[in-house]
Amino acid sequence: MPSYVRAGSLPPKRHIQFRRPDGGLYAEELFSTKGFESAYSLLYHLRPPTATLDVRSWKRPPVQLEPNEPLRSRHFLTRRSNAKGDAVDARVPVLGNADLLISVADVDRPMEYFYRNVGGDELLFVHDGNGTLETTFGELAYRAHDYLVIPAGTTYRLRPAAATRLVLHESRGHVTIPKKFRNEFGQLVEHAPYYERDFRLPTLPDPRDAPGEYEVRVTNRGRDAIYTVQNHPFDVIGWDGYCYPYAFNADEYAPVTGKLHQPPPAHATFEAPGAAFCVFVPRLFDYHPLAIPVPYNHSSVDCDEVLYYVSGNFMSRRGVEEASITLHAAGAPHGPQPGAVESSLGKTSTDELAIMVDTFEPLAVAAGARAFEDTEYYRSWIESPAESLR
Ligand SMILES: [Fe+2]
Repeated sequence: MPSYVRAGSLPPKRHIQFRRPDGGLYAEELFSTKGFESAYSLLYHLRPPTATLDVRSWKRPPVQLEPNEPLRSRHFLTRRSNAKGDAVDARVPVLGNADLLISVADVDRPMEYFYRNVGGDELLFVHDGNGTLETTFGELAYRAHDYLVIPAGTTYRLRPAAATRLVLHESRGHVTIPKKFRNEFGQLVEHAPYYERDFRLPTLPDPRDAPGEYEVRVTNRGRDAIYTVQNHPFDVIGWDGYCYPYAFNADEYAPVTGKLHQPPPAHATFEAPGAAFCVFVPRLFDYHPLAIPVPYNHSSVDCDEVLYYVSGNFMSRRGVEEASITLHAAGAPHGPQPGAVESSLGKTSTDELAIMVDTFEPLAVAAGARAFEDTEYYRSWIESPAESLR
């Protein structure tokens, strides 16, 4: 988020004495990115966030990624993955490369510990469910169709109030708003599909004043540890800066529509190193009298394209269902399945909701995802004899 935010109580200047009512000093923490050169925030804790009682190993299941060989388009029916758990241990990896890991999770219980991914930002999409994302920066109530942007290094725990289906993107870098949507001051421009008011910020509750023993699971690109810390991670009295978690609901996205078909960049949401995110929301179709509502066949030769189908009628895709993930790999032309073009003609709007990410390096397939793969998907563009031109 390119905006300055302040929450809670702050001293009048940074890096000066800031005293608690008992006369002790609050513990200032600089939370910075790209060394000391990019977005940062200053947090004020009741007690130092550095008090570590113990560090032990955390044996996470390794993510086994297999090259997409033979190179082809893939389809994963992720509703059938059926792994339940908290927002960390329920993650089922589906696709990944060095820039991004894409997982799904059916979250049916709160995290009984704290979690911190230092290796990069996490971008969570809430397919359905609701609850609270608790973080060092405060609490964000989430609901269906929310994107939750969680900066690298944020200590958090997710507490669902109802069963929650998540799509998780773990980036190796930072998730940002595309530059084309920002002016020279960082403000969102008039023609951006969202505005600052659409972004929900955390609410800072009273700090937790409860020294004890708290488990924080830390992960950083394959290096993991479980910390036991003395002070409650959510003991912040105030913070300010440019680095913090926030929520954006896809239903607030104001889609750009056109006389002719608009390509995915017209539906952009976020960017991250090696990845461009889009959202396809209910919208009016193109208004040229001879417009074809469904997309044209395309070969986007520099990208692997991943779609997650949330709700609505996915009329350009044969065989997909809610929570399907398709991978349209660079090298495999794709487009509407047979019959989809003709049946789309004359339609004026779509109720589909789908999220998309293009990656600029090839994606590999998580070994476990083959258990819920539609292996015939790459054949779904074959015309039946009745549709043949001969
Ligand atoms: Fe595509």
